Amino acid sequence: MLDKVNKLIIDVQAFNTKNKEEIEVFRIKYLGNKGILKELFNAFKGVDSTLKKDLGQALNNLRNTAVNKVNELKDDLTKNTTKKFVYGDLTRPSEAISLGSRHPIAIVKNRIVEIFSRIGFNISEGPEIEDDWHNFTALNLPKHHPARDMQDTFFIETDPAILLRTHTSSVQVRYMKNNKPPIRTISPGRVFRNEDISARAHCIFHQVEGLYIDTDVSFADLKQTLSYFTKEMFGKSKIRLRPSYFPFTEPSAEVDIYWGLETEIDYKITKGTGWLEIMGCGMVDPNVLKNTNIDPKKYSGFAFGMGIERIAMLLYQIPDIRMFYENDIRFLEQFKSVL
Ligand code: PHE
Repeated sequence: MLDKVNKLIIDVQAFNTKNKEEIEVFRIKYLGNKGILKELFNAFKGVDSTLKKDLGQALNNLRNTAVNKVNELKDDLTKNTTKKFVYGDLTRPSEAISLGSRHPIAIVKNRIVEIFSRIGFNISEGPEIEDDWHNFTALNLPKHHPARDMQDTFFIETDPAILLRTHTSSVQVRYMKNNKPPIRTISPGRVFRNEDISARAHCIFHQVEGLYIDTDVSFADLKQTLSYFTKEMFGKSKIRLRPSYFPFTEPSAEVDIYWGLETEIDYKITKGTGWLEIMGCGMVDPNVLKNTNIDPKKYSGFAFGMGIERIAMLLYQIPDIRMFYENDIRFLEQFKSVL
């Protein structure tokens, strides 16, 4: 009987499977109520007492080996399943990669740039930190000129003045200094004004300004160019120019587009008039041309400038300018479908 038990120990040690049912069959075979061990322990009772010591040890050994084997195989099984879980089902379709979206300011800027590039305007850029000359003096705003108060300025240094540009007209000054007419350029960029933040105004915003200088450029060219732009941008080409004042243009005008009065929102945003102010413009003041070494007797030109936030607010009916800078994903995601 001892030989039989030792042989069974070897069998048990050699047993292997990765199948849950087979493990259970094995367990019942050896350790079950009517299993081999039960049977052997029963037979053990009738064995001659001189043999009991060795046989008893062997039987205990067999039982422990079988118990360990079952536990070991079950452990392996759970390890295998976690391994499977890590790799997952490789045939499943993958999850969609979520795409980002452009910021509405970038979308509108790109559209404006694209519309003007179709009629031959290039893009020019300049520094956000400017000196007094490029931001003010060259633009016919000498020191102590009252019109400087129209654009509350963030100064970095006072003497000589270094500041955050208050408009992208400073880029046009640089462009005029470095290029000879004909000039057709638009300058998009970020500008800074020391203003209280509210639903309609922010101390940091974006502008696009345009400049056209050549021989015989007239006010009619300006009006034609702007109505082309408003048609492409808003699908509305009816505009009117109201006299206004900018130190760097003469004459100067404020541009309104006829928005219409079809919906309640139209009434609200146009204050019941149907007209909406969208930008400033004018004929470049001869002093500005002189300041940038362009001969005002030979050349003339027009300039215009608009706030990108304002245009975006109109296009997408955004009620509060602060939404552009909060980076709230729920706001930004709404522009996903727009290029
Ligand atoms: N620079 C002006 C502003 O920031 C806009 C403007 C540009 C007006 C060009 C006329 C001509 O308000």
